Amino acid sequence: MTHTHPSPVVELSGVTKEYPGGVAALRGVDLTVSGGELLAIVGPSGSGKSTLLHIVGTLDRPTAGGVRIAGHDVAALSDRALSALRSRHVGFVFQSFHLVPGVSARANVAEGLLYCGLSRAERGRRAERALERVGLGDRMDHRPHELSGGQKQRVAIARAVAGAPDLLLADEPTGALDTASGESVMELLHELNADGTTIAVITHDHEIAASLPRQVRIRDGEIVADVRNAATVTAGSGAAGLGATAPAGSAAAGTGVAE
Ligand SMILES: Nc1ncnc2c1ncn2[C@@H]1O[C@H](COP(=O)(O)OP(=O)(O)OP(=O)(O)O)[C@@H](O)[C@H]1O
Ligand SMILES: [Mg+2]
Repeated sequence: MTHTHPSPVVELSGVTKEYPGGVAALRGVDLTVSGGELLAIVGPSGSGKSTLLHIVGTLDRPTAGGVRIAGHDVAALSDRALSALRSRHVGFVFQSFHLVPGVSARANVAEGLLYCGLSRAERGRRAERALERVGLGDRMDHRPHELSGGQKQRVAIARAVAGAPDLLLADEPTGALDTASGESVMELLHELNADGTTIAVITHDHEIAASLPRQVRIRDGEIVADVRNAATVTAGSGAAGLGATAPAGSAAAGTGVAE
């Protein structure tokens, strides 16, 4: 289902992002994510989390600094080549689902496969498999307004993983959900990770962050802590000792907390 890369899935070096108007949303971010990791990105509102995720997902380019995704130097790629890289390697899940209203769950998931060069029939089959994977085999023909919030987020996750991406990026996937639906979405992410998908999750939920094997904390556009929990296990990850940094005196909240 996933591919093994000799190089890290994500390598950011000295990444800055300035928006027009002079906002420096990211200021010199270094981040390496290895295949099989499951990490939380945490930090206050406006600290640059979504900006970081968009750059990692190649939806946006940095103002300066290096970005390598699955070994490819993003700066060297045309927009077209970048879309191809994205459709092959990256899946996105957003807080507000971003489903197409009025069409079935199956069609929503199949839409995510449009640029993979598959036939319409094959896209439909893969969409069905992805929906079964997230426990919605009996909701294929439901349209978004006929689904609960948690089910909508499952459709969004199915859409993100239908193309078997190496890297799944989720921006507050539980933010719009009640506790039980949020928990089941997190369970699903753990399962996908156990199957080999590398996952980065932005979350405001301290419990969720603490339950993941790695937490990257960002403040004012800078990574201020990068902590691994010895107590949690990342399935399939050879991540031990890879660049873990925890500046002295920071992020005590992330350490020693088990599920
Ligand atoms: N398109 C844009 N144009 C100008 N400024 C932007 C743009 N997008 C984000 N910003 C600014 O960049 C900073 C970082 O924004 P970002 O969306 O990455 O924050 P965040 O950590 O995801 O916050 P939240 O938790 O509220 O989602 C903020 O100050 C924001 O106002
Ligand atoms: Mg955000």
